[in-house]
Amino acid sequence: MATKRKQKKKEGLGWIEWLRGWMYLIYEMLFQRISASHLHNPLPLPPGLNDLTCIVTGSTSGIGRETARQLAEAGAHVIMAVRNTKAAHQLILDWQNQWSLSGGGLALPLNIEVMELDLLSLDSVARFAQAWNARLGPLHVLINNAGIFSIGEPQKFSKDGYEEHMQVNHLAPALLSVLLLPSLIRGSPSRIINVNSVMHYVGFVDTEDMNVVSGKRKFTSLVGYSSSKLAQVMFSSVLHKRLPAESGICVLCASPGIVQTNVARDLPKIVQAAYHLVPYFMFNAQEGSRSALFAATDPQVPEYCELLKADEWPVCAYLSQDCRPTNPSEEAHNLETSFQVWEKTLEMVGLPSDAVERLLEGEEVLCRYGAHRE
Ligand SMILES: NC(=O)c1ccc[n+]([C@@H]2O[C@H](COP(=O)([O-])OP(=O)(O)OC[C@H]3O[C@@H](n4cnc5c(N)ncnc54)[C@H](OP(=O)(O)O)[C@@H]3O)[C@@H](O)[C@H]2O)c1
Repeated sequence: MATKRKQKKKEGLGWIEWLRGWMYLIYEMLFQRISASHLHNPLPLPPGLNDLTCIVTGSTSGIGRETARQLAEAGAHVIMAVRNTKAAHQLILDWQNQWSLSGGGLALPLNIEVMELDLLSLDSVARFAQAWNARLGPLHVLINNAGIFSIGEPQKFSKDGYEEHMQVNHLAPALLSVLLLPSLIRGSPSRIINVNSVMHYVGFVDTEDMNVVSGKRKFTSLVGYSSSKLAQVMFSSVLHKRLPAESGICVLCASPGIVQTNVARDLPKIVQAAYHLVPYFMFNAQEGSRSALFAATDPQVPEYCELLKADEWPVCAYLSQDCRPTNPSEEAHNLETSFQVWEKTLEMVGLPSDAVERLLEGEEVLCRYGAHRE
C-alpha cells in the first residue's frame, strides 16, 4: 500500500538557493552596467503616450521621480501618488519650468497631478482607490514604485499591525492593484508594474509569520525587505493567472538594478559616503527608471505576458535592470507558497478571497479598510 509521505514545511531557503541568490546579487552589482550597455539613457519612449493615464507611487524621490517626469514629458497624464504632496507640487513646478525652458513648452504643458497616498495606512490606500475609481475614467498603467528599505533599523509595525517593509513594499501595493481593477479594466489594455528588486533572490516568505515575530527567523531589515519583495513576485504571479487574457491587464515585476537614490537614507553616514563612492557600479535614478518605463510603454510587453499565460508559466513576467525578461528566484516558482501568499495577503488587506473574480464581473467588493466599496 502506498503511504503518503507528509511533506515537511520549508522553513527557509536551502543553502544552495541562498548562495545562488547572493551570487546573483553580487553579479548584478558588478556587471549591471555592462549587461545594460545596449540601453540608451534616458530610455527613448515610444510615441503616442498622450492617451496614457499612469499612476506612479512614490514619485517624490529616486526611481519614481524619474519615471513620473519622463512619462509626463512623453505626453502621458501622470498621477503622482505620494505621501508628501507639498514636495510633489514643488517638483511639478520645477519640471514645468525646465520643460518650458527646454522648448517643450511650445507643446502642451505637462499633464501631471498629485494625489495623497500613504502606504503605511491601508485606509489611505483604500481611500485613494475609491477617489480614483469614482472618476469613472480609465487607468492604463499603475506603477507600484514606492518602497522602503530601512537598513539597520529595528523592526517596526504600521498602525494596521503589519511589519513595515511587508506593508509598504507588498501589502499596500497589492491592495491598491486589486482595488484599482475597475479602472484598469476601463483602461484595458492596461498594465500593473511592480518595481521589485534583485534582493527577492535571497528572500523567503513564511505565510504563517508574515510579520517575522514568531522567533523562527531573526528579524533584520534585510529579511524584512527581501521577504516583502519575494511576496510581491508571488502575489503578482497569482494575480497574473487570475486575470484572464480577455481582461487585457498584464502584471509585471521589474528590477531597477542597484541604484543611487534616497533608499540608503537610513544607512550610517560613513556607509552612505562609501555608497556614493561607487558610482561606476551603481545606476543613477534615470538609469534605474528604465526597466519600469520599458515595462510601462514597450508595445511588445502585452504579447509577452500573454505568451507566459498561454504556456501556464508559473510566474509573472519579470524584467531585469537591462529591460530583458529574466527568471525570478527558484523560490518564486514555488506555486504552493505563492497561492498561500495570495490568500494570506487578501486576508491581511481585508479583501474577500474571490475579490478579483467579482471585480472582473463588475460586482461590488467590500474592503475592511477605508469603508471601501467597488
Ligand atoms: N535604489 C535601489 O538600489 C533599488 C534596488 C532595487 C529596488 N528598488 C526599489 O525601487 C523602488 C523605488 O526606490 P528608490 O530607490 O527610488 O528609493 P527612494 O529614493 O527612497 O524613493 C522611495 C519613494 O517611496 C516613497 N515612500 C516610502 N514610504 C512610503 C509610504 N509609506 N507611502 C507612500 N510613499 C512612500 C518615498 O516617499 P518620500 O519621498 O515621502 O519618502 C519615495 O518617494 C522601491 O520599491 C525600491 O525597493 C530600489
